[in-house]
Amino acid sequence: MANSLLPMRVFALIACLFVAAVLAQSSTSSAAAATSSATIYPDTSKWQYVGCQNETTLLNNTNGLRALNGGTSETLNTMTVDICLNYCASSGNTYAGLEYTNECFCAQRLSALSTKLPESSCNLACTGNSSQICGGSLALTVYTAKTTTQGAGNKVQQAPMSSVLALGIALGVLLCLA
Ligand SMILES: *[C@@H]1O[C@H](CO)[C@@H](O)[C@H](O)[C@H]1NC(C)=O
Ligand SMILES: *[C@@H]1O[C@H](CO)[C@@H](O)[C@H](O)[C@H]1NC(C)=O
Ligand SMILES: *[C@@H]1O[C@H](CO)[C@@H](O)[C@H](O)[C@H]1NC(C)=O
Repeated sequence: MANSLLPMRVFALIACLFVAAVLAQSSTSSAAAATSSATIYPDTSKWQYVGCQNETTLLNNTNGLRALNGGTSETLNTMTVDICLNYCASSGNTYAGLEYTNECFCAQRLSALSTKLPESSCNLACTGNSSQICGGSLALTVYTAKTTTQGAGNKVQQAPMSSVLALGIALGVLLCLA
């Protein structure tokens, strides 16, 4: 009896290890996708990364308006993400975007005509720090100021993800032992 079950147990164990390997791979693949030495600057306590957004100046229906317009802007040879975020914060703006290595745009809102681009379109390092991405050509790495509730919401949103993963791992262990 026990002998006839052994091949099934071995098969189940191998299947479990395979699933575990796939899970581990999928959780690290997003980090491995960034091949350039410069990386998208992550969220800070005050700012949240929105995405790589299309500049709108060349779109037909915008009359040359920028994706982030109406606020202040500056171009610096020393541009870093921090400089831009602090600059936009000091001028009271809730959106900050970096473009083309050294440009920083601040605004109260992001144009609805600006579409989200693949992260690979934001591929230019900052002139002030070659380890950080400062947008791309006609592409902006956009950040938005966190409100207290947004910050709390982010933490809540992350909990279900880890719960699902924990449930998956627990289920996998049960299957392995069955
Ligand atoms: C981004 O904007 C350019 C014009 O600058 C336009 O040609 C292109 O289609 C836009 N891309 C997307 C994905 O909307
Ligand atoms: C923009 O305008 C040009 C010239 O009028 C036209 O050829 C092109 O199709 C338009 N593009 C869009 C996205 O409407
Ligand atoms: C450059 O950017 C990296 C990545 O964000 C950061 O760790 C480093 O402290 C920055 N260097 C300077 C001089 O700000």
